[in-house]
Amino acid sequence: MEKTYLKECKLKDGSVVLLRPLVAEDREGLITFFQSLPEELRLYLRHDVTDANIIKSWTENIDYDHIFPILAFAGERIVGDVSLHRIPFGWKRHIGTVRVAVDPDYHDKGLGTLLIHEIVELASEFGLEKLWAELPLEMPAAIAVFRKAGFSSKAVVEGLVKDLHGRNTDVVIMVCDIGTQYDF
Ligand SMILES: CC(C)(COP(=O)(O)OP(=O)(O)OC[C@H]1O[C@@H](n2cnc3c(N)ncnc32)[C@H](O)[C@@H]1OP(=O)(O)O)[C@@H](O)C(=O)NCCC(=O)NCCS
Repeated sequence: MEKTYLKECKLKDGSVVLLRPLVAEDREGLITFFQSLPEELRLYLRHDVTDANIIKSWTENIDYDHIFPILAFAGERIVGDVSLHRIPFGWKRHIGTVRVAVDPDYHDKGLGTLLIHEIVELASEFGLEKLWAELPLEMPAAIAVFRKAGFSSKAVVEGLVKDLHGRNTDVVIMVCDIGTQYDF
């Protein structure tokens, strides 16, 4: 699928982005993308994405069965990144986890929603039954985007995680039932 997946999409403002899976040659572009994200968008990420070695390890160890990353390009520039994370064995083998980030210059143009929709479609092709996302309660835009893409809030865990500065914050667990996505 990774060889054939290539999509051109129009955003709300009429600009065009190209979506395709991450390949090893994207290393420098991905480093630039993550290093240019302002701190407020990096407060709750799971990795220090400003560390070029972390991005290098991602681009050197691509395993689409484990992590399926899709990049959005505006020309040569990476403006969005969404990834589907799967555990191939065990009680969560039917569940995929979604993570997404969009360049602030491209916020509120529908790109975040588009990228999550792509993952919802892929999840169905991969035979997954549910998608899972963990979002900080204090990021209403992120929660709104996942809701628009078919996710609903299932729980709030108070003070579960720490931001970059060590402050505890509440996390919303959101789930999308893949089987029911196309029933209406
Ligand atoms: C979450 C994120 C991906 C959204 O990207 P985006 O391209 O701006 O998303 P969209 O344009 O599709 O949608 C944004 C929506 O949020 C809404 N929104 C923006 N600020 C908001 C706020 N303060 N409260 C509620 N909704 C808000 C917008 O109105 C828009 O909805 P609309 O299209 O119905 O008007 C982006 O903010 C980001 O990269 N955040 C940092 C990473 C992150 O938090 N990821 C989620 C955890 S995995």
